Amino acid sequence: MSRRRILAAWVSVLAVALARALAADAPGFTEEEVRRILRHTPLSDPPPDETNRVADHRGAAALGERLFFEARLSTGRQRSCATCHDPARAFTDGKSLAFGTGRVRRHTPSLWNVAHNRWFFWDGRADSLWSQALKPIESPDEMGGSRLQSVRLLATDPALRSAYEAVFGELPALDDVRRFPQAGGPLHEDPAHPDRRAWEAMAEADRQQVSRAFANMGKAIAAFERQLVSRTAPFDVFAEGLRTQDPRKLVALGPSAQRGLKLFVGRANCRRCHSGPLFSDGEFHDIGVPTLPDAPYDVGRFQGIESLLGDEFRADGAHSDDRQGPRSAQVRFLKDRAHTEGFFKTPSLRNVALTAPYMHQGQLASLRAVLQYYSTLEGRRPPLVEAVHQEVGLAPLRLSAAEIDDLEAFLESLSDSRYPR
Ligand code: HEC
Ligand code: HEC
Repeated sequence: MSRRRILAAWVSVLAVALARALAADAPGFTEEEVRRILRHTPLSDPPPDETNRVADHRGAAALGERLFFEARLSTGRQRSCATCHDPARAFTDGKSLAFGTGRVRRHTPSLWNVAHNRWFFWDGRADSLWSQALKPIESPDEMGGSRLQSVRLLATDPALRSAYEAVFGELPALDDVRRFPQAGGPLHEDPAHPDRRAWEAMAEADRQQVSRAFANMGKAIAAFERQLVSRTAPFDVFAEGLRTQDPRKLVALGPSAQRGLKLFVGRANCRRCHSGPLFSDGEFHDIGVPTLPDAPYDVGRFQGIESLLGDEFRADGAHSDDRQGPRSAQVRFLKDRAHTEGFFKTPSLRNVALTAPYMHQGQLASLRAVLQYYSTLEGRRPPLVEAVHQEVGLAPLRLSAAEIDDLEAFLESLSDSRYPR
């Protein structure tokens, strides 16, 4: 036997011995618990998005990556998507509320595995990844840009232009500045804002051309975001060990994290909402986290549905590449929004230990604070409108200090140590 093979044999003997030693302290799982655990892994590739015909096009993803880091899309050329979604911070900004051209009223979510979402934003006001990407560019508080400014940048930067045209074909000719002003877009709330006035003065056919190219930019950014896949956390290795009875994989979680996992799928019932391989049911709930002292009450999904129904870039709209498909069908089930006031999207818990602070306003500073909240529901925000139902069946869990430690250790085991930086 070669030295290397002897060494490898020793390493595996030691790993098995270590696994046995740790297992002595580990909780052990019933068959039903194992079944529940295995429903959280593995995370598949992102589902297809037929509304974006370049969703998996390499050239589009390369263009999208450049646009993601492109500050010239913002007013003052100071902010890109990456300003708030910083790759070095798991695509977040570490702040409670985001800050762009102004203060944003919500907290920046991570973009890991974002293409698995059914709805986008905390309130679900976008129904595709590409339509989501267009909103921050034109939002006065985020990047403060406009669609005309964005398409003009593509047209005047030779590298961006050739990358765009290789994927989508010719850009509209914007040379005539009387037909196509320097900047302009429809979204400004203030009707007297120069961007909005410029937009409203344009011919409808010209506006359509600009909006189409703008939608294509969103599709390129989405193609890039679809590559942000992170799915090899210690939890996944451990679950694989449970599936195959491989002791070398079972050491991936220490005893405390294993006890936390048992709580997660058991008494604490976190899996009720944080279900499946994304650790999210993709739906909206009201867990009543108290609003930040200086921030207004946020109606969440209630407004999100209305915004989505009025969105020109919807999955069943003119700029979609599949107006009849499954993604478009979702919208038809949205009519009733009566019981959605104060509801927010269940966030994924993958890599959650890397993305403090937490919740839609970043109200809670640490995972411990989150667990303490679920334990006591202290300060739970009452429903604003009497008639509005709050989440049913969410009761204080009354966790012991040791149980909080264990759940925290489990949540930490959802961080992908190999995630691409
Ligand atoms: C000023 C900070 C800021 C900038 C700049 C910004 N974002 Fe965001 N992003 C946020 C915040 C805050 C939210 C949540 C807003 C909400 O839910 O209302 C968000 C939400 C998202 C979401 C939804 C994620 C989910 O799980 O629902 C995606 C995707 C996203 N941003 C991508 C982008 C892209 C692409 C760009 C650039 C075109 C961008 N963001 C620019 C702060 C920012
Ligand atoms: C009734 C559904 C539901 C249950 C049960 C539930 N959650 Fe949540 N969870 C949510 C929703 C919705 C949010 C976002 C709420 C908000 O932003 O206001 C959230 C947020 C979180 C966050 C913050 C994530 C982030 O990125 O900001 C963590 C961590 C978390 N939950 C962990 C847990 C754990 C652990 C349990 C079990 C003890 C649990 N949740 C039980 C629905 C639920």
